[in-house]
Amino acid sequence: MSKKISDKTLRALADAAVEVKKNSYSPYSRFKVGAAVLAEDGQIYTGTNIENASYGLTVCAERNAMFRGVCEGQRKFVALAVCTDPVEGDAFGTPCGACRQVMTEFMDLNAPILLVAVTKKGTRKICKKKLKDLIPFPFLKPGE
Ligand code: THU
Repeated sequence: MSKKISDKTLRALADAAVEVKKNSYSPYSRFKVGAAVLAEDGQIYTGTNIENASYGLTVCAERNAMFRGVCEGQRKFVALAVCTDPVEGDAFGTPCGACRQVMTEFMDLNAPILLVAVTKKGTRKICKKKLKDLIPFPFLKPGE
């Protein structure tokens, strides 16, 4: 069983995703995304989407956050938060399929995923899901 993550820690993770979104490099889509992952030792790693003139080279915020942690030696993340610019009707922005697949590499399927929306009026809303809600029937490492 994984350890319960306190509400305070989850709030800090959501704050980190909101904060880092400001550094998004997205001159082509003009759609800013920020993400933060919590490693099992309590460290938080953040990332933004980084776009390129050759559009297909863009890397999403979620993968950049995870990969920063992995580059620092982390192999397990216990929660992830993602904050996007407002989407249609104040709905929540959600991770793309590629990021969901990469999450299954480094996260438990029961890990909490926080979708953080800051409305045009500046109000913060959080929708809490589990990774398995986002990616049912995932492709897992051979043998798992
Ligand atoms: N984007 C992310 O950063 N994360 C996702 O999960 C979905 C999409 C970025 C990629 C691109 O820079 C912009 O959002 C528009 O697709």
